[in-house]
Amino acid sequence: MDKLNSIEVQQLTVNYEKTSVLWDINFSIPENKIVGILGPNGAGKSTLLKALLGLVRPLSGQVTFFGKPLCKLRHKVGYVPQRSSVDWDFPITAFDLVMMGRYGKMGLLKWASKEDRQATRQALDQVEMLPFAHRQIGQLSGGQQQRLFIARALVQDADIYLLDEPFAGVDVTTEKALVLLFAEMKKKGKTLLIVHHDLATADQYFDWMILLNTCLIATGPTEEIFNAQNISRTYGRSSVLLDEAAIKAKNKFSGLL
Ligand SMILES: Nc1ncnc2c1ncn2[C@@H]1O[C@H](COP(=O)(O)OP(=O)(O)O)[C@@H](O)[C@H]1O
Ligand SMILES: [Mg+2]
Repeated sequence: MDKLNSIEVQQLTVNYEKTSVLWDINFSIPENKIVGILGPNGAGKSTLLKALLGLVRPLSGQVTFFGKPLCKLRHKVGYVPQRSSVDWDFPITAFDLVMMGRYGKMGLLKWASKEDRQATRQALDQVEMLPFAHRQIGQLSGGQQQRLFIARALVQDADIYLLDEPFAGVDVTTEKALVLLFAEMKKKGKTLLIVHHDLATADQYFDWMILLNTCLIATGPTEEIFNAQNISRTYGRSSVLLDEAAIKAKNKFSGLL
C-alpha cells in the first residue's frame, strides 16, 4: 500500500468578510518532512495553519491528516501559535504552561499524574528551560517564551506539529537550539510545518516548502521549487532586499548545478 500523506489539502478557500485570504489551495505533504511555509506579510500563512487546525472556518475545502479528518486525531496535531498572539500576563508558571500540553485545559492540572510531571520536566529539559520552571511566563525573555511553547507541544507527543514563526524575535542561540530540536523531532518520525520569513536560511532549514501568497505559488521538495523565479512570484519584484535574497538563492543553486 502507498504511504499516506501526513497532510492533504483540497480546494481550501478562506475569506475574512468578503475578501479571500486563501484561494483554492491544494497540496499534499508526505510523512516525516520539515516543511517551510513562506510568503510575504499578509500572505495567509497564519490563516493556513488556523484553517488546518479548524480554528478558522473555511469557505470551502477539505483537510485530512493521514487520510482522516482532524476530529479523528486531534491529539496527534500539535500547534505552537505566533508568540505575539499570546497573553503573556496570564498568571501561570513555565512548568504549568508546559504541562497544559498534556491536557489543553488548565482546570485539569490538579489531576496531573507523576508521569505528566515527569514528561513536563523532560520537555523543559529538552529546550533547556528546567532552571526557569517556576518563573511566571511574563518574566521570561522572548526566546525563553518560544522555547516554552515548543516544550508544551513536545509533551503532547503529536505526530504533526504546526509552528507559526518560531524563530521570530528569538536570539541566535535559541534559533540554533530550535533547529537542532526540530531535526531530532524529524528523526523520531514527526512532520513539522513551520511558518518562516527569512529567505536566507530557508533552504538549510526545510526539505519541503509551501510558497504562498493568497494563492499557492509552488510546493514540493526545496531543491525543486526554491528558485529565483518562484521567490519573485511569491514576493513580487519590487523589493530590493528580496531581489538580493533571490539572487543569493539563485547563485547558490547555479553553484549546485
Ligand atoms: N481575524 C481576521 N479578520 C479579518 N482579517 C484578518 C483576520 N486575520 C487576518 N486577517 C487578514 O488576512 C490576511 C492574512 O493574514 P495572515 O494569515 O495573518 O497572514 P500572514 O500570517 O501570512 O502574515 C491579512 O490581510 C490580514 O490582515
Ligand atoms: Mg502570520
